[in-house]
Amino acid sequence: MTTILPTERPTLAETARQLTGGGRGILAADESIRTMSARLAAEGIEASETTRRDYRELLLTPKGLAESVSGIILCDETFGQRLADGRPFPAASRELGVLPGIKVDTGTSPLPGGDGALITEGLDGLGGRLASYAERGAAFAKWRAVFDVRTITTYSARANGHALARYAALCQRHGLVPVVEPEVLADGGHDLESSAYATRLALGWVFEELDQAGVDLAGIVLKPNFVTPGLRAAPAAAAEVAAATFEVLCDTVPAGVPGIAFLSGGHPTADVCAYLTDLSRAVTSRGRPWQVTFSFGRALVSGPLRTWAGEPSNTAAAQERLVANCAKAARATR
Ligand code: G3H
Repeated sequence: MTTILPTERPTLAETARQLTGGGRGILAADESIRTMSARLAAEGIEASETTRRDYRELLLTPKGLAESVSGIILCDETFGQRLADGRPFPAASRELGVLPGIKVDTGTSPLPGGDGALITEGLDGLGGRLASYAERGAAFAKWRAVFDVRTITTYSARANGHALARYAALCQRHGLVPVVEPEVLADGGHDLESSAYATRLALGWVFEELDQAGVDLAGIVLKPNFVTPGLRAAPAAAAEVAAATFEVLCDTVPAGVPGIAFLSGGHPTADVCAYLTDLSRAVTSRGRPWQVTFSFGRALVSGPLRTWAGEPSNTAAAQERLVANCAKAARATR
């Protein structure tokens, strides 16, 4: 197997800072085969290994992407694919100035005894998979725990925090920065206070479990949700979302964490960029040590996917739209 790692490997802390600093953020392009196929089908594009590959090549290769994007999260299928010019995705990504990452959880299942809560799976055999991804050029990994405000309990927060901690410890052992993603879903009609309560509970247990597992916080990236009302409730002003999110972060996230990269959670691009702008200002003006940035999926790619519609003649326009979205998100961090 060809090793494509740089000769002088940066430390985990350097990679975590590189991913979240410099006014750049992470592009989440790691939808599972099933989710990606459904999103293609929803735009009238036939879902296949080839169309999923074509779409991911469109996302990775726009000129100027690396000015606002520090890293890209891929799924296993894309990680093993090649660009049209024959380069493997991870190698091409590094050449383009974008660190390649890999989603390593295998999805969720009902948490036994969890009264409807979910547990994220994927720990079996994880060490071997991480070793292989690291050897093939990955710089970081991602694991997503999922919480619903209606079902989260101390038990489900602790169980998912424990899985995240075991994943993070294993990543660090294999030289990969763990992106630690406890997501409180925005789906639903709940209020902002419910989101704040659930996010505080989830983050509190995540950091307790990371500590127990001996994870080096300087070498992780936290990927949380913004604290918002549900998508079916009346939206809150950006200042209100930023204030609520800032308060929860201050209460739960240790100063040793170098970077926080937010997911978009189904909120529109303009909204999440406004949340990030206000939050970045609060973090700077209130002297908190974290670098805050984005690790958005849908907020960056939904528009470009619609523009592309599976037509090669639309690729340039779709890439232009993607670069504009990424630049807007990057500006929100500065
Ligand atoms: O796991 C979730 C993705 O990495 C971020 O997706 O920004 O569409 O919520 P999203």
